[in-house]
Parts: sequence; structure tokens; C-alpha cells
Amino acid sequence: MAKRLLFTTALLVPALMQAQTSPKLGKQSFGKTSDGTEVFLYTLHNAKGMEVKITNYGGTIAQIKVPDRNGKFDDVVLGFDNLDGYTQKANTAYFGATIGRYGNRLARGTFTLDGHTYHVPTKDGANSLHGGLKGFDKRTWEAKDVSAKGAPALELHYLSRDGEEGYPGNLNVTVRFSLGEKDDLRIDYMATTDKDTVLNLTNHSYFNLAGAGSDTVLNHKLMLAADRFTPVDSTLIPTGVLQSVAGTPFDFRKSTEIGARINDNNEQLKLGKGYDHNFVLNRSGESLALAAKVEEPKSGRVLEVLTTQPGVQFYTGNFLTGSIHGIGGVYAFRSALCLETQHFPDSPNHPQFPSTVLHPGQQFRSTTIYRFSIE
Ligand code: BGC
Repeated sequence: MAKRLLFTTALLVPALMQAQTSPKLGKQSFGKTSDGTEVFLYTLHNAKGMEVKITNYGGTIAQIKVPDRNGKFDDVVLGFDNLDGYTQKANTAYFGATIGRYGNRLARGTFTLDGHTYHVPTKDGANSLHGGLKGFDKRTWEAKDVSAKGAPALELHYLSRDGEEGYPGNLNVTVRFSLGEKDDLRIDYMATTDKDTVLNLTNHSYFNLAGAGSDTVLNHKLMLAADRFTPVDSTLIPTGVLQSVAGTPFDFRKSTEIGARINDNNEQLKLGKGYDHNFVLNRSGESLALAAKVEEPKSGRVLEVLTTQPGVQFYTGNFLTGSIHGIGGVYAFRSALCLETQHFPDSPNHPQFPSTVLHPGQQFRSTTIYRFSIE
């Protein structure tokens, strides 16, 4: 008997190890959109047990499970385990979504390109926010398993037609998510157009490294590689100035607790109801560079953000009110933070900002990596 058990175990162990260690991409139904289209939830696993769930509805990261210093896995992004969560009216937060055609705000929903003034739908008071009324976050993307050499990868494609949400040009957008063995989730964005257009793509994940649904992120420590930020007016549109962070609550060049200065008597913090600002990344050229590092002391989890983009919107979930229930429970005021790598908000109306214009014949490319570790 003992001999037989030994024999069976000897056969089973390698098979189990194989199952645990081979990275793979899973797929399951995630429901149907209002027009009857079935959408899916894809799961990327690496050999170390990290897991990322992405739905092709909105190109949305729904879950990211990473270990803490005791090896306990938790989901560290705000999200829903069903499609209704993402389509419900109360969800105005863009949890985990791919944002486009133009991320963040465009003043009064207007911009001028090649002498023509375009009007895109406004939503956030007088301004346009995150691509209009039905941005890329509310579209169904075509999905393809592009896993290679054992590295799980999902490629999403969307054709945004000429005139959609008021933007010019047929824009072909591809977003590729791949999970590496360094617990790094890499997002590659590519786009081409057949007419001049403006473009600002980002991912809108809300992180809480203590686990989604834990109270605030005010105990998280943050480093931002930015000497300057773009102050805003009362409607959260950049004034156009690139202001030094020195001597202000916006100085995160040395790792600092997010809550340390968030309630300071500072005009910009009052306008944003906390941090909701674009930081100008210190960088030369367009190679991948470290933009931010977040540390959560209790779990020991660390998140590093690397990007080719010139800016990052640091947002402390100031518009979360506790009215949304997701996988992690109630998502309360400041219970998560976003680090949206991007071009600067409202760039088309600020010629001095890095250009967001894409021309026919050009290929837009950008990369962001969210890399997790433990300290
Ligand atoms: C914006 C916030 C907004 C949030 C959710 C962020 O990118 O900067 O002002 O509330 O997205 O839409």
C-alpha cells in the first residue's frame, strides 16, 4: 500500500509542479453587453502565482493578485467580478479601464487641429473627460491570445471610427498586456490613424497595496520622479504653467507618506480635493524610465511604475464616496490611488505641452510597466 502511494505520488508531483509553474492564459465568459455581445474575462498567470484578470469590455484590468511579505495573495486593484459592475450608471470611476481617445480633460470639450475646431461631448461640468460619453472604456475590444515562450499575453484591438465621439480619423488601437516572471505587468499601446487626430491613452487602475477594500491609501509611501507638476484651475484644467514641486506638498522626489500633507492648506490640494494632478516626469528621450514607486508598510508590497510617457496623473480617489461595492467590498473616499501614465491633460489647447497629435503614416507607441515586489 505504502509502496503504491509512493509510486502514485512520484508520478503526480512532477505533473502538479508542471501545472503550477507553466504560465498560461485562461478565458471565461464575463456576460453579455446590452447589444447582446458576449465579453470575456482573461486570466494571465505567471509561474510565481501572480494573477491578472482582464476583460475585453473596456480593455479593463479587473484584478491583480500579488503576494505580501508572508506569501499571502491579495487583489490590489479595485474592480468587479461581473460585467454589470462595469456597466452600471453609478460606476463613474473607470476602474482599471483603458482610457481613450483622449485621457483626462479637454477644456470645454474643444480643440483645434489643422485650422478646424472640433467639439467632443462634455461630461465633467463644462469639460470632456476620458474620451467622451462612450470612451474606449465602454467599448468591446477584439481579443487575441498572443502568449509567447510561455509568457502569457493578451492583445486587444479596437477601431475607433472617424467622427466617433467627435474625434477625427479612423484610429486603429492595439493594447497588449503581458505578464512577466518579475511580477511585471507590461502594457504596450500602438495606434495608427488615417487623418490627423489627437490621442492620449492610459490605464485607469486604482491600487491599494494592502488589498482592494482596505481603508485609505494615506499610509502608502510614494516616490514620484518629477521636479514639476501642472497646476489646475477650478475645473481641473491645467493652467499651462509647469510649477516646481520644491517646498510644496507635491514634492514626492523623496519617498513620502501620501497622507502626510494631503490635508494641508494648499490651494491646489483644495481644487483637487486631494491629489488629482499631472506630474511632469524627469526624463530624457522616450525610453522606459522609473516614474513612481509605492510602498505599503504593513503588507510589504511595493509597486514600481515605469513608462515611456512624459506625465503621470496621480489621483487619490477623492471622488470615491463609498457608494460603489466591488470585489473588495465598499470602495471608500481615498481608498485607492491611480498612477495614470499619459500625456498632459488638455494638451491640444496648450501648444507648449508635448504634442498629442498623431498623423497618418505615423505609428504611436508607448509602454508602461507595473512591477510588483516585496520589501
Ligand atoms: C481624474 C479625476 C477623475 C478620475 C475618475 C482621473 O483621471 O483626474 O479627476 O475623477 O479620473 O474619472
